[in-house]
Amino acid sequence: MKLKHGAATLVLGVQYGDEGKGKLVDVLAEQAELVCRVQGGNNAGHTIWVNGEKIVTQLLPSGILRENCEIGIGAGVVVDPFVLRDEIKKIKSQGYDITPERLHVDYRASVILPYHKNMDLKRELERSKNTTKIGTTGRGIGPTYASRAYREGPRIAEIASPENFKNWLKANPYLAEGLEGKLLDEFLETAELLRPYMKDLAMIANNRLSQGARVLLEGAQGAMLDVSFGTYPYVTSSNLVAGSCAGGLGIPPWKISSILGVIKAYSTRVGNGPYPAELSGPFADELRKRGHEFGTNTGRPRSVGWLDLVALRYLAKINGLTGLAIMKADVLAGIEHIGLITNYNDKRTNKEMNGYPMTQNAWDNVEPVIEFMDGWENVAVGSNLNKNYKAFVKKIEEFIDVPSAYISTGAERSEGIWLA
Ligand code: GDP
Ligand code: IMO
Ligand code: MG
Repeated sequence: MKLKHGAATLVLGVQYGDEGKGKLVDVLAEQAELVCRVQGGNNAGHTIWVNGEKIVTQLLPSGILRENCEIGIGAGVVVDPFVLRDEIKKIKSQGYDITPERLHVDYRASVILPYHKNMDLKRELERSKNTTKIGTTGRGIGPTYASRAYREGPRIAEIASPENFKNWLKANPYLAEGLEGKLLDEFLETAELLRPYMKDLAMIANNRLSQGARVLLEGAQGAMLDVSFGTYPYVTSSNLVAGSCAGGLGIPPWKISSILGVIKAYSTRVGNGPYPAELSGPFADELRKRGHEFGTNTGRPRSVGWLDLVALRYLAKINGLTGLAIMKADVLAGIEHIGLITNYNDKRTNKEMNGYPMTQNAWDNVEPVIEFMDGWENVAVGSNLNKNYKAFVKKIEEFIDVPSAYISTGAERSEGIWLA
């Protein structure tokens, strides 16, 4: 696929996160001049393999590995300054160049403070007493977005000067909880260290687009975790769907020319919440092992299941997907029959569910209807897709009415086939 000059291409997860967005962004970033994160924070974990070396990004966009492009952290992101400091150091130590000329962090990104992380853990503990906890990553994501909605949480702009930040804490003293003494000194030092990266990224992005740059927006999480369109309340705290991404950077939506949805050939979910596709038992354990389905960030085992075409068809519409990237079909190689969820029945009536689930109760009552297709030994030989896998891809395309653009055949940067 050729990225368009003077336009943005959006890469989005359309399951429950961990679809392989980082890999796809790394592949596409070879052509890009600017790659930006637009939502979430270090709840994300994107793994990329380059010549046998594993690189993990959390806050930095996966374009970081391509020195041809600038990278940005947009106004819609929540930034833990300590995490950003450590990640810059780590990626630099892996041999990649990160300078203030290359990395731009929007002044308006919100700041995660120790208070937010504590609050995240505290609320999860409280929830676990009365109901099921969300299973958050514990990174303070939800409370930081809540602080922004309250208009009390500081943004990068507010920590740019120690004086401003101290005044900010005086005005909102509860936010200073857990940020005293040595830790406050370290926080201020870190802010100082990050100061050269703080910019008006929105204007930089708009200027680059006017100059004809190819811009990539790297979505985090997946549409099933979107705070409005996911399995609420078991979701993250930001909007993730395509319509929200331009706002996470500050570019006009009409500058986005392609919206690539990333899926696995099966599905995974980490954290709690409805997951009708979930499999259990020895087969699920084997699939988890084969796919290395353990959180990039937290190491938690991911639940695994078949690909849910009903949810995907719904989300393809909500997001206006223009193309699909299908990852990890190699993990299914050698499995005789591969399942696809093609309908939702209602457990209460044993009949087809009336409409797409809108409530937690409706999700809990989904009985998935599973169709099986013949499996494959190899995804492809050279650039020729295996016959059975081709039929699987066609089934997905027809079901959701979106053409596939990219077939990933392995975790390495070089393992993949472009169809469009
Ligand atoms: P992200 O959060 O969407 O970027 O995805 P993660 O990086 O959290 O999880 C995807 C995992 O699958 C990573 O470990 C990738 O290295 C790996 N991966 C991506 N594409 C493929 C593929 O086609 N085949 C295999 N076997 N692994 C893949
Ligand atoms: P990437 O970008 C998978 C999940 C958490 C939890 C819920 C809320 O790697 O795909 P939060 O800490 O955001 O308040 O947690 O969302 N979650 C993810 N699951 N991949 C992610 O990111 C996720 N980011 C958050 O497990 O269920
Ligand atoms: Mg991930």
